[in-house]
Amino acid sequence: MNAYNNIYDAIGGAPAVRRLVEAFYPRVQAHPLLSPLFPEDITPVMEKQYMFLTQFFGGPSLYSDRHGHPMMRARHLPFPITKERADAWLGCMRGALAESGLPEELQTLVLQRLSGPAYHFINTGDGEEG
Ligand code: HEM
Repeated sequence: MNAYNNIYDAIGGAPAVRRLVEAFYPRVQAHPLLSPLFPEDITPVMEKQYMFLTQFFGGPSLYSDRHGHPMMRARHLPFPITKERADAWLGCMRGALAESGLPEELQTLVLQRLSGPAYHFINTGDGEEG
């Protein structure tokens, strides 16, 4: 990560996280596997994601300060997350990162860091949703 201590600083701090979230959710909303899981008003989700990714990337602990322990896998249990949906989620993030104009190696690093949680949140197999 060059001279930076964490991903948050390396990608450019708060404005970069904001741009990433703003590039990500339109992709989620346009994705046939993902959009049915999300509410029509995506704004509150974007705000939570902004706070979460800020701290996940090593910035200030905005999410925990406001919402307590992240327990992210538990928070995703109400939603049927298949391997296909995890791939779709990461695909949307890949697109958002490409749009960000960040150096390739940073894009790859961010995607790698998010892949662990994304596959960890899988909670159902294909054809057994609900
Ligand atoms: C694996 C595929 C994923 C799917 C299908 C998915 C889907 C969802 C859904 C449906 C919600 C709830 C939206 C609502 O409030 O109604 C949500 C919330 C959230 N997701 Fe994901 N998600 C995935 C992966 C991830 C990953 C990898 C992260 C970050 C590492 C993440 C972070 C969040 C956050 C921070 C929230 C808000 C939690 C809260 O309510 O406080 N998600 N996600």
